[in-house]
Amino acid sequence: MSEKFSTSVDLEGEDIHWSPEGGLSYGRYLALDTILGAQTPLTGEHDELMFIIIHQASELWLKLCLHELDAAIAHVRADEARPAMKMLARIARIQEQLTQSWSVLSTMTPSDYLKFRDRLGQSSGFQSAQYRMLEYRLGNKNPALARVHEADPAAYKAVRETLEAPSLYDETLRYAARLGLPVPAHALERDWAQAYEPDEAVEAMWREVYLDTSRWWEAYEFAEKLVDLEQKFQQWRFNHMKTVERIIGFRRGTGGSGGVSYLVKALNLRLFPELWTVRTTL
Ligand code: HEM
Repeated sequence: MSEKFSTSVDLEGEDIHWSPEGGLSYGRYLALDTILGAQTPLTGEHDELMFIIIHQASELWLKLCLHELDAAIAHVRADEARPAMKMLARIARIQEQLTQSWSVLSTMTPSDYLKFRDRLGQSSGFQSAQYRMLEYRLGNKNPALARVHEADPAAYKAVRETLEAPSLYDETLRYAARLGLPVPAHALERDWAQAYEPDEAVEAMWREVYLDTSRWWEAYEFAEKLVDLEQKFQQWRFNHMKTVERIIGFRRGTGGSGGVSYLVKALNLRLFPELWTVRTTL
C-alpha cells in the first residue's frame, strides 16, 4: 500500500487507517455514483426530489421482496416450509417499511404536488412491472394488467412469466396436498394465468388444519405466515389509497384510472381467500 494514498483519522484514540485508492470501498461496493446520480427532477419544485426518492426506494424494496418470494416459492416446492417461512416473515417486515413511506409522502400537500403533477404525463405506479410481478407471484392474477407492459419487451416477458407460473398460494395448496391434506384436484393443476377462484373444498381443508392444529402444525404455522403477509400487503394498499385521497382527492389518476375509486376496489382483492373465510366458520 502506497503511503501517498493512505489516509488515517484519529478519533479519540481510535486510529482508523485506510487507502482510498483502488480496492473496494463503501461507495464502489454499493454503486452509489449510479444510485445517487439517478434522480432527475423535471421541475425545480422542492417536493419533486422527495417524490422521486420515495418511488425509487419503493422499487428497491420491491426488488428485495421478489428476491425473497422467488426463493420462498422454491422452498415450498421442495417441501422446505421452515426456510420459506423465514423469507415470508422478512417480506412482511419489508411491507411494513413500505407502508411507513406513506407518512413521509403525506407531508406533501395538494398545493405542493399540483406544482409538478402535470409534468408527470401518464406515468403512474400502475406501470410498475415489479409491483405487478409481486401481485402475480403472491396470487392476484389479473391477466389483463400484464398488457400494460407490452411496449417494453423485457418487462413484458418477465411479467408474463410470473403470470403463467403457479403463485405462492398455488404452491401452498400443492404442498398441503403432499402433507396429506384433502386439496381438490382442480386446485392442483389449473391454468395458472387465470384468477384463482375461492373454493369450498379448499376452505374445508383449511378448517381441518385450524381445528386440529397439533396434527397439522406445519400447515397451520405456514397459513398464519400467509395471513400475516396479506394483512401487511392490505395495509400498504389502504395507506396508499388514503394518501392519494389526501393529496389529489377524487381526481383521475395520471395512469388513466378513476384514481381513488380504482384503489378502493383493490382493497376487496384477496390473495389467500379461504384463509380469511375459514375464520368465520371455525
Ligand atoms: C403523490 C403520490 C401518489 C399518487 C397521487 C398516486 C396515485 C395513484 C393512482 C391514482 C393510482 C391508480 C392508477 C392511476 O390511474 O394512476 C396509483 C396506482 C399505483 N401506485 Fe400510486 N400514487 C402515489 C404514490 C405512489 C408511490 C410512492 C408508489 C410506490 C411504488 C405507488 C405505487 C403505485 C402502484 C404499484 C399502483 C398500482 C396499484 C394497482 O394496480 O393495484 N404510488 N397511484
